[in-house]
Amino acid sequence: MSKRASWATTAGFILAAVGSAVGLGNIWRFSYMAYCSGGGAFLIPYISALFIIGFPILLLEFALGHWRKGSAPKAFYEVNEKWEWLGWWAVCFIMFGIVIYYSVIISWSLNYFFFSFDMRWADNPDAFFFQDFLQRADTIGELGAINVRIAAGAAFIWFVCWFICFRGGAKGIEKANKLFMPVLFVLTLILVGWTFYLPESREGFRYYLEPDFSRLTDIEIWISAVTQNFFTLSIGFGIMIAYASYLPKKVSMVKYAFVVSLLDHGYSIVVGFAVFGVLGYMAAVQNVPIDEVVTAGIGLAFVALPEAISTLPFGAFNRLFGVIFFFCLVIAGISSAISIIEAFTSSILDKFHFHRRHVVSVLALIGFAGTFLFTNASGLFFLDIIDHFINNYGLLTVGILECLIIGWWAKDKLLINHIVKSSPASDRQKYFLYHFLSGFWSYCIRFLCPLVLIIIFVLSLRQDVTQPYEDYPVVYLILMGVGCLIITHIIGFFFSRLRWKEEPAEDYWDES
Ligand code: ALA
Repeated sequence: MSKRASWATTAGFILAAVGSAVGLGNIWRFSYMAYCSGGGAFLIPYISALFIIGFPILLLEFALGHWRKGSAPKAFYEVNEKWEWLGWWAVCFIMFGIVIYYSVIISWSLNYFFFSFDMRWADNPDAFFFQDFLQRADTIGELGAINVRIAAGAAFIWFVCWFICFRGGAKGIEKANKLFMPVLFVLTLILVGWTFYLPESREGFRYYLEPDFSRLTDIEIWISAVTQNFFTLSIGFGIMIAYASYLPKKVSMVKYAFVVSLLDHGYSIVVGFAVFGVLGYMAAVQNVPIDEVVTAGIGLAFVALPEAISTLPFGAFNRLFGVIFFFCLVIAGISSAISIIEAFTSSILDKFHFHRRHVVSVLALIGFAGTFLFTNASGLFFLDIIDHFINNYGLLTVGILECLIIGWWAKDKLLINHIVKSSPASDRQKYFLYHFLSGFWSYCIRFLCPLVLIIIFVLSLRQDVTQPYEDYPVVYLILMGVGCLIITHIIGFFFSRLRWKEEPAEDYWDES
């Protein structure tokens, strides 16, 4: 078998994993979820979910990928061939679901990057976004014409992703992230620093940081916090399994999982200062309470921010705020999109040994063709439905099964032994590592995570059954939401039935 490619440096791996984790989810999704959930009240479940769910599952995925040196389907196949479909399903719904609508949102950001130069949204950013820019239909199902501006942006994004993935791990993905991540962090700090100088931004910070404890009884906030943890850490995607498979033998997986989780959540929290600082300023300008300043939701970043930018007291520099903000969205989005494409690519390469360049080229064409589903007049509705179903049911199901398979079915002891054996730590440190893993981590993976995730799954299902999501017609929820999960499941199942070009190892669970 040919030697597996590897990252050029460990820092390269960490930046790539952070690049995958830090994405639109941290800026666009996090801010509207935090705003809808009452600001500070969202941070408590969001951070708690990191410790008991996000971090343990991220570590599980790193360890599994590193141990079996393979993408998600290969790693699960090696646990037992009957679980191969799970790996395929994960990489299919991210490749044929998430990354397609994701690329459309990056295209919106790219367009807004250009609009920022002349503040094209003028004095009505809401009407500009929904009517002029998206040309959104009044009711779901009216397709209208393809939105050329958004489709062109998506074509450019797919070209960039294709170019990076075409060059492979170390030369493409690692290099791109080594450039993107430092730029993203510096620009974000500039934005946040800027908001500290805004009059009344402190009101926004207060809303963001002071929790309204009464909101914590709202189960929807907990569902959002848990699903947001999956989305933002890229867990349940199969990405982290594939990325860890390119690591060298001796690695500190616990440290990497810790650093990636911390940087990812830290980034969301820092970026939140920029968004809420601006909202605080707007509330003061409009003389309304902060929770009434904008209509929250999917358009927050594209309506509230432009509205604020138009009124910022920075003279000719205010448009620069928008330029930087939307540029950040574009690079954060691209670094995550390439990780999704890579998760699927590495799965195909592992199983069929096709040529990377052919696989990436075909995927880029399919991905771009798929964007037409979201660049028509009903695209925003379709995007919202698919995002909801994949996050609330797809990612959660993968997370639940991962925990049950590794924690119960396949004996987590073997994975713990592997993590300890691969660690370059001293014997004394390994002793503590072993106890941490067989105590806290094993407890989370075996009991806490599956239990909490099953409860969240059931509550979310109950909510969707009693009240159709966002009151969309049920037929669309079934066609687009449930349909997307079923179709990607069928595709994944189909891939899992095909023969391996070179059969991976089996029965290693008997190793001691
Ligand atoms: N983890 C990526 C994000 O947060 C998918 O956007």
